[in-house]
Amino acid sequence: MNCDAPLGVFDSGLGGLTVVRALRKALPYEDIIYLGDTARVPYGTRGPETVIRYALACAKYLQTRKVKAIVIACNTVSAVAPDHVRAALDLPVLSVIEPGARAAVAATKNGKIGVLATAGTIASGAYPRAIAACSTRMETTSYAAPLLVPLAEEGWLDGEVPRLAIVRYLAPLATAQVDVVVLGCTHYPLLRTLIEQEARALISKSVAVVDTAQAAALETQAFLSERCGLRSHSETLGQVQLVVTDRPESFAVQAARFLGESTEAPELVDL
Ligand code: DGL
Repeated sequence: MNCDAPLGVFDSGLGGLTVVRALRKALPYEDIIYLGDTARVPYGTRGPETVIRYALACAKYLQTRKVKAIVIACNTVSAVAPDHVRAALDLPVLSVIEPGARAAVAATKNGKIGVLATAGTIASGAYPRAIAACSTRMETTSYAAPLLVPLAEEGWLDGEVPRLAIVRYLAPLATAQVDVVVLGCTHYPLLRTLIEQEARALISKSVAVVDTAQAAALETQAFLSERCGLRSHSETLGQVQLVVTDRPESFAVQAARFLGESTEAPELVDL
């Protein structure tokens, strides 16, 4: 395996760029090919068989681009498909749920963890399973927060509309007296300031918010450097190449907000 080959990252659409943003901080010298499956977004409302089929198509495409490892940026895919992707490809495959679960277990003091995610991720039970795999003493309350996805895409990151949606979604976590809220969806880091503010008001001043994108980026960094010697030797900053399956023009307009930097125009591919 060539350690200077790019990392392949995929998601249903824009959201996984929050993971790329975190990867760029943790691994600035890595080249990244990011595939957003914009022809079939959203994944969060679909059943597991469909998500697995889409995920396999994305991962196989990235393999044709000679990536050295794949990071599944999408929580919904990470909830149901990593083992299928691993079985189909001869490549290291990392995902976001286990790192998020480990970060949440490390952050909690009272053992009560709240998770917000898409309906698909919540229905899979992947977060409570991953948290229980770290410690059986944890109590997980998970709740689907689907409206936060279009709000993040629209750029409605503050004001009454997102605030009221967040308050509604945090209510069951407040009842469960969690002391950690996991942002279990690629889009939620964009709303982090408001989620944090409302969680402090509703739950407690000391509540911790865990960003799975950051947790996954740190574990990817550790994986590449310590476990398999796959970290790039390059001394120049890595490039991000964007690939989408539909509407490259509108993707380009929104990508900078999710990524936090400007990008080249995305390439259009048919999977
Ligand atoms: N990327 C998805 C996730 O993290 C959210 C968007 C979608 O539903 O496709 O679960």
